Amino acid sequence: MTKLLHISASARGESSLSRQAARRRLAQIRQRHPALAVSERDLGSEPPPHPPAALVEASLMPAADRGAAELAALAHSETLIAELEAAEFVLISTPMHNFSVPSALKAWIDQTGRFVARRLERPGCSPTGRYGCSSPVAGRSMKAPRPSAISSRLTCSTC
Ligand SMILES: Cc1cc2nc3c(=O)[nH]c(=O)nc-3n(C[C@H](O)[C@H](O)[C@H](O)COP(=O)(O)O)c2cc1C
Repeated sequence: MTKLLHISASARGESSLSRQAARRRLAQIRQRHPALAVSERDLGSEPPPHPPAALVEASLMPAADRGAAELAALAHSETLIAELEAAEFVLISTPMHNFSVPSALKAWIDQTGRFVARRLERPGCSPTGRYGCSSPVAGRSMKAPRPSAISSRLTCSTC
């Protein structure tokens, strides 16, 4: 079974053109993957909160140091990340809002960015700054080389 997570970002429900385009795309994908299991995350009807300070601080802490308050602050982010981890493919359908993605989709990206950070191999670390070698979050340095598998996991390039 092929698992696909469909992220929809329009607030326009079934009137949404991007959602209708996604339905057509899903029908095409199903032709190639008949055993496709699709799970839906509708950011338009249920927008995730923009990350509050408590989430940001908790995400920067070493996991071993997090207490109940930090785990509670990360709970929604963990739910969204678990959906990503369960999927082999992700389809994002979104309108453009003011030359960018809708704020609900940006909030989802901010809430799930830790998913990518977790998957980074940690071959090296940044020599300076907050992500420096002595930092507890040194492995999150975006200056370190990243495996190309990350981007291919986040897109469905074959269908
Ligand atoms: C607040 C808002 C901002 C928009 N900004 C842009 C834009 O910057 N560029 C663009 O091409 N379309 C823009 N649009 C048009 C939408 O992207 C377009 O209508 C799209 O088809 C809506 O998708 P949906 O039907 O899935 O919601 C905007 C629409 C709204 C409501």
